[in-house]
Amino acid sequence: MADLYLITGGAGFIGSSVAEEILRQGGRVRILDNFSSGFRENVEALGEGVDLIEGDLRNFDDVRRSMEGVSYVSHQGALRSVERSVDDPMSSNDVNVAGSMHVLAAAREAGVRRVVYASSSSVYGDSTELPKHEELTPSPVSPYAVSKLAAEHYCRVFSKLYGVETVSLRYFNVFGPRQSPKSQYAAVVPLFINAALKGEPLEIHGDGKQSRDFTYIDNVVQANWKGFHGDGIAGEAFNVACGERHDLLEIADLIAKFCGRELERNHVETRRGDVKHTEASIDKIQSMMGYEPTVGFEEGMKMTFDALKQGAN
Ligand SMILES: NC(=O)c1ccc[n+]([C@@H]2O[C@H](COP(=O)([O-])OP(=O)(O)OC[C@H]3O[C@@H](n4cnc5c(N)ncnc54)[C@H](O)[C@@H]3O)[C@@H](O)[C@H]2O)c1
Repeated sequence: MADLYLITGGAGFIGSSVAEEILRQGGRVRILDNFSSGFRENVEALGEGVDLIEGDLRNFDDVRRSMEGVSYVSHQGALRSVERSVDDPMSSNDVNVAGSMHVLAAAREAGVRRVVYASSSSVYGDSTELPKHEELTPSPVSPYAVSKLAAEHYCRVFSKLYGVETVSLRYFNVFGPRQSPKSQYAAVVPLFINAALKGEPLEIHGDGKQSRDFTYIDNVVQANWKGFHGDGIAGEAFNVACGERHDLLEIADLIAKFCGRELERNHVETRRGDVKHTEASIDKIQSMMGYEPTVGFEEGMKMTFDALKQGAN
């Protein structure tokens, strides 16, 4: 029988995209999600073969139950957003740190082959060196970043101490179709596109010159698949990005180009806990995992714009 993959947070943006790829590759998929920010439509779109466990990462029994018969885990479930964690650090810790401990402990018990963990570029924090490479000492500046780094450390320690193979993927601002603009903590790309499509002003925090290594979802899915099956990478952390950066003003200009008109911009306060620039070195993931970004920034932005325009969300 085909291998069973457990995807925590599989109803979310990235988890459901990883699930799609696993199914395409012939694997079986189980999803553990509490639908706090994920959507039932994302699971339904995967088809009937997917096993859904509606449960909570904070509940060890739910996580254990989900782990039965599982060969690989894609641990995507988390409370995303720096801003949310600044508002409510306790819940970020509960889900992102304690929840990850539950995943690792249950994976160990169940003899899972590998856990691929969704870490974040936010672990680098305010270190000014660019591009960020994996040898830099992390310096998180938000509760969210602390929680992602803590779980990454647990992954490495579980690999070393207990032989649970783990791979941490430090995603740099992921975007793509299916990323929801609906939450108060939505990411900038869907928020801007949504505002533009509705004829509302784009809300730009600060001067808009803060830049990110925006990474289209297909590149992240590729890294996840290689993370499950690559040799010699257990216990390691890798940047997942394109190796370039774009600022918010560029995004606004690009969306204006797609819309074929000027867009109103409303500059508001800088967000607490945000870092000014991120840009990744992707040397490590290229050399150790054979990863290559296949969709660039502008092409990805166009596909995302078109999908949101067609009402993909
Ligand atoms: N989107 C990005 O740019 C980005 C960047 C860096 C890291 N990440 C990480 O990638 C992962 C996926 O992010 P996403 O953008 O798909 O976010 P998302 O909010 O769309 O997905 C997260 C999923 O986790 C589920 N979840 C949350 N709390 C849960 C709980 N207690 N129990 C069970 N399920 C729970 C949600 O319902 C949702 O389906 C997260 O771990 C996030 O920290 C994302």
